[in-house]
Amino acid sequence: MKWLRKKQTGQLDTTQLPRHIAIIMDGNGRWAKSRGLPRKAGHAAGAENFRTVATYCKEIGIEYLTVYAFSTENWKRPADEVQELMGLLERYLREAIGQMERDRVRMKFFGDTSVLSAGLQQLITETEEISRRFEGVQVNICLNYGGRDDILQAAVAYAKDYAADKAPILTEARFADYLYSAGVPDPDLVIRPSGEYRLSNFLLWQLAYSEFYFTDTLWPNFGPRELDRAIAAFQQRDRRYGGVSK
Ligand code: FPP
Repeated sequence: MKWLRKKQTGQLDTTQLPRHIAIIMDGNGRWAKSRGLPRKAGHAAGAENFRTVATYCKEIGIEYLTVYAFSTENWKRPADEVQELMGLLERYLREAIGQMERDRVRMKFFGDTSVLSAGLQQLITETEEISRRFEGVQVNICLNYGGRDDILQAAVAYAKDYAADKAPILTEARFADYLYSAGVPDPDLVIRPSGEYRLSNFLLWQLAYSEFYFTDTLWPNFGPRELDRAIAAFQQRDRRYGGVSK
């Protein structure tokens, strides 16, 4: 009987996990405001929570975790907040590099990183370089990422290959090879905390058949138990991909 084979961690059935989880880490500002703290304290708490959730994903056997750290639209925020977020990312990457041999987590970056500071670009290159040696869990950080920009840059790259007579016949799978997420399976589950119900230009192509999970919990409070709840909800879904139930 199927239930006899279930391995339980608390309430979680680890035999039917999503392979790939994507998260819009929203609600840092409101978390800070509710505590009378500056927004930057919310982002710091959000970054800390990202560390906790990524570690938990690795522990339970999630293969891919993709997070939205900075969108192509986030440049509209006040300069000091943008600077604060970039600083947090730098700090995070420095620490991650120091622990990579121990953690053995592969890291990739989706987005146009060419406009970021030289220091951040250097850290990104270093992180991706070290990551190549590791197998297992992969964390993708979307940085200066926009879903529309992703599709547009893929079309431009394809057009260049076409002009150079190097382009494959275009199919959905071949086009996906030009996206930032090339080689990564589409997310099975996308989570948006903080009570907002929109995609905000996140992975527009890749989320075509993902299951959505929304919660009012603010990102810094969205810990492992909340993730268990999201996964449990995912496990109740009937994924039909446009077909009919089996
Ligand atoms: C949205 O919350 C959050 C962001 C725009 C930034 C997310 C960044 C982090 C969690 C920190 C850095 C990431 C890593 C991977 C180390 P908001 O500010 O829009 O919140 P609000 O809607 O409550 O104002």
